[in-house]
Amino acid sequence: MIEQERLIEKAFLALEHAYAPYSGFQVGACIQTRDDHYILGANIENAAYGSTNCAERSAVFAAYSMGYRKEDLKALAVVTRAKQITTPCGACRQVLSELLNADTPIYLSNGIEVAVTNMKELLPAGFGADDLKSAN
Ligand code: THU
Repeated sequence: MIEQERLIEKAFLALEHAYAPYSGFQVGACIQTRDDHYILGANIENAAYGSTNCAERSAVFAAYSMGYRKEDLKALAVVTRAKQITTPCGACRQVLSELLNADTPIYLSNGIEVAVTNMKELLPAGFGADDLKSAN
């Protein structure tokens, strides 16, 4: 099995753990680390809807909580069972643009098609740490 297929398959395992009683929209994510660990994340919703955590944020926060940093992260997969491929929401793009390298491959799949992108493409000209340094 080629590497990205394995990563996508693991993201579908995470999707099975989604807690999405409000939207019914299950999302799974998986990060492959350079030392070849796979870290899963699912979307976890809340009755106060804004407190929901998306799958890709769950995965990247888990990776950072384990001590990994952006240079240790090799690839991310985000999967759904939607009719079309889903791309990360705006909040996730902001978070991932800081916590992943700009060229780290991000595989998106709905189980039928696969697309590959990265944060350079998903959030060009985003706000980041360098902007804070230029204050006054
Ligand atoms: N969701 C994700 O987990 N990742 C995305 O990239 C898009 C949206 C979740 C949040 C919410 O639980 C559900 O999908 C519907 O928005």
